Amino acid sequence: MSDTQTINQRVEILVQNLKNFGQIFIELGRGFLRRDPILFRTLVGATVIGLIITFRLDVWIFKKINLWHYYPPDGKWFKFYALSMMWTPIFLYGVAMRNKKKEFAKNLKEVFELVGLKNAIGSYPKFISLIPLSGGTMKLLMTNGSFPKSEWEKRKPKLEANMRIFIDEINEVPEKGLIEMTFSYEPMPTKVSLEDIRSYRDYKFFMGRDRIKSYVGDFSENPHFLIAGESGGGKSAFLRQMFTTIKVNQPESQFLLMDLKAGLEFEHLKKIPGVTVICDIQHVASALQNIVATLHLRIQNLKSKNYNDIKQFFQSSEYQRMTVEEKRDHTLGHRTFVVVDECAEIFLFGLGHKPEYTREIRACMSKITRLGRACGVHVVLATQRPDKNAVDPQVKSNLTSTICYRIHDIGGSLAVLGSGRAMDLPKIAGRAVLAQGSQEVEIQTPFLDFAQSQRLLAETFKLSLDLEPLNHGSLNSTQEANHYEKTMEPHIP
Ligand SMILES: Nc1ncnc2c1ncn2[C@@H]1O[C@H](COP(=O)(O)OP(=O)(O)OP(=O)(O)O)[C@@H](O)[C@H]1O
Ligand SMILES: [Mg+2]
Repeated sequence: MSDTQTINQRVEILVQNLKNFGQIFIELGRGFLRRDPILFRTLVGATVIGLIITFRLDVWIFKKINLWHYYPPDGKWFKFYALSMMWTPIFLYGVAMRNKKKEFAKNLKEVFELVGLKNAIGSYPKFISLIPLSGGTMKLLMTNGSFPKSEWEKRKPKLEANMRIFIDEINEVPEKGLIEMTFSYEPMPTKVSLEDIRSYRDYKFFMGRDRIKSYVGDFSENPHFLIAGESGGGKSAFLRQMFTTIKVNQPESQFLLMDLKAGLEFEHLKKIPGVTVICDIQHVASALQNIVATLHLRIQNLKSKNYNDIKQFFQSSEYQRMTVEEKRDHTLGHRTFVVVDECAEIFLFGLGHKPEYTREIRACMSKITRLGRACGVHVVLATQRPDKNAVDPQVKSNLTSTICYRIHDIGGSLAVLGSGRAMDLPKIAGRAVLAQGSQEVEIQTPFLDFAQSQRLLAETFKLSLDLEPLNHGSLNSTQEANHYEKTMEPHIP
């Protein structure tokens, strides 16, 4: 072997080793960026080791195993020992992650061989990256190996069986010759039903579940919601189950339901006590002004009673002693919800009404979302178009939680989540990204069908199954309905 060949080989080995070493730090960086809980546990471990060494508790271990004379003396050797002991678990994390990926890439080749993804020139698609998303979901990026998306789709069951994974979606980036595969090791539910609906208390409701756990919404923690996504995603179904859970468990709650598209979603709910349905834009501004007035009244009431917020009042003995009727009649006895299905209809300028009218609606909504948390007035907005025209930016900045169903364009996904995550969602009704604070998880939202919802509401409010007052008690029920409608107006207890 010539000298030049040996040098070349040595340089190659050196470069390979440097690459391998560098990958450890790349994995560490990625772990930090995606806030990997394993890495954070490792950091806690490193801190504990640091504390043990600082307080010299490790001396006891050295003595116990008879290695006391090897204990580093004070000075630079001790510093070196302490630092390397603390860095070891972090470094090992990087090594483990790098090895896991290497192993994964190696196994991929075997899988491609088994499922017939070997092209005419005998090569296989190449592994590029594996990125954990959330809730156990991973995104695998590979070269397409000259196979179009249809060929990958055809082999999906075989890929799942051989890789022991559950593939949510396969996407193609044709201009780059890449394939993006979203998968998980646990199956993601494709339909989640709403069980035990009567078990939700204190204005909590079921938001959905991922592969591992359930997510429960709590209006006292996250007061306002944005429900976004393209047609057929499940926005109206989500509003239906949320409304039903709250109304069934907290019959004293008040709802202002707006559906300006065709009135189809909410019209049938108007006979339910405590529910006002608006299907005409002409009535929106005055209804919102009423809510703002209620809001001010509640703030005054809370102040006069020395409570910081309605949650505190709900803990008071005064509230605990109240009957449902008393709660609904008392200014501070219940939470109030403003729910708008397709909110673009109320926020968009130039839909046949004057700009001042839209401005007034926007101002009211902004005030309600700003001040609503403390006094129990909540806003839930659903929209297909999540841009700044369809949702007033000031209002949007106050919506603390987002449920985002699939959005096929990057602009839409960016507008709602600040990332392209909504584009990665599979085309499954009810599949959404839940974004709350720093949490962003893929969930399957629960499905409660129309008939079930009607039955539950009819039972709770003693109405007929089509939510009309029952004949034998029509006078009482109608009186009751009128009474609740009146309670939507601001009043003093
Ligand atoms: N969580 C869910 N699980 C399973 N299927 C669902 C779920 N939500 C909705 N669906 C199905 O998808 C259909 C469309 O849902 P929905 O009407 O709620 O969509 P949408 O987002 O409101 O659409 P649009 O913007 O057109 O009003 C429903 O009729 C139902 O069959
Ligand atoms: Mg809808």
